[in-house]
Amino acid sequence: MKKILLIGKTGQLGGELIKDASVFNFAIISFDRTELDVTNEAQVEEKIIASQPDILINTSAFHVVPKCETEPAAAMAVNFVAVDKIARLCKKHQIKFVTYSTDYVFDGEKGSAYEENDSPKPLQIYGISKLAGEYAAVNAYPEGTFIIRTNGLYGGATGSPDKGGNFVLNIIKEAKGKNIIEVSSEQIVSPTYAGDLSQATLKLLGSRAEPGIYHLVNEGQCSWAEFTQTIFRLAGIETEVKPVDRGGASGAMKRPKFSVLKNTKAKALGIELPSWQEGLKSYFNFLNK
Ligand SMILES: NC(=O)c1ccc[n+]([C@@H]2O[C@H](COP(=O)([O-])OP(=O)(O)OC[C@H]3O[C@@H](n4cnc5c(N)ncnc54)[C@H](OP(=O)(O)O)[C@@H]3O)[C@@H](O)[C@H]2O)c1
Repeated sequence: MKKILLIGKTGQLGGELIKDASVFNFAIISFDRTELDVTNEAQVEEKIIASQPDILINTSAFHVVPKCETEPAAAMAVNFVAVDKIARLCKKHQIKFVTYSTDYVFDGEKGSAYEENDSPKPLQIYGISKLAGEYAAVNAYPEGTFIIRTNGLYGGATGSPDKGGNFVLNIIKEAKGKNIIEVSSEQIVSPTYAGDLSQATLKLLGSRAEPGIYHLVNEGQCSWAEFTQTIFRLAGIETEVKPVDRGGASGAMKRPKFSVLKNTKAKALGIELPSWQEGLKSYFNFLNK
């Protein structure tokens, strides 16, 4: 049985990987930030030596997007420098390296779904820092690095500890006591359930997939407004959703307008996530358990 060392134990995706690993025949050992801080290279190497994994999966990120604008050095430390150093350590210890990236490496101007080999062009520090991490890891350890890009991730009972929840939980909270709420209609995305992403990642690792960049997202696309309407229907919330076009702007910062990701490489190996509607249903089943 292959052993995974997981970074990001308390996160949305980390929690799902811990639940799913044994189902896919992997042993898993995980650490939280107090035990392993990705910005502490010596600590990362110490954990690799102590746990002797076959695969290191890094789900950590500095990903509150507006905070990346005001704290670029901190964003770069986690999303770029740490990823570079972990890739080098994985090469040194001959471990497969899996790390996650984002639709925000693209500018959203293509007008159709982005494939794995499309040219990135990030619009803000978050995307720049994640892209720098991608380049660094692939450059340092091309023969062992898997970059998995995903989009609009949600999962877990309380969502992301760093983001204070996730879109699903936060929009439900926001709707409380309101007859109508405004939600952006211009951003088209592929929102992805962390449970589906976890399973697809483990399938990929159990397959003959070559190292490289993969897009793993729930299938299909929607605006955040349409996503919200579906959330409210599943949650039995009667608040009306008013779609508004904010032009992709969030203060001075830009977000990509059309950042749907297309899974072509994993799909060729038979690995495909369910539709975003199915992903959302699975999340509600989990929340209602
Ligand atoms: N969420 C999204 O919408 C989205 C979209 C596209 C891509 N992604 C990518 O998908 C991946 C997983 O996202 P997620 O939503 O599962 O994240 P998450 O729920 O916010 O979890 C991130 C985890 O990283 C840990 N972490 C943060 N800084 C760390 C550090 N310096 N050292 C060690 N651990 C640290 C956090 O620990 P603490 O609990 O101690 O903070 C947390 O366990 C990330 O790479 C993210 O960029 C996410």
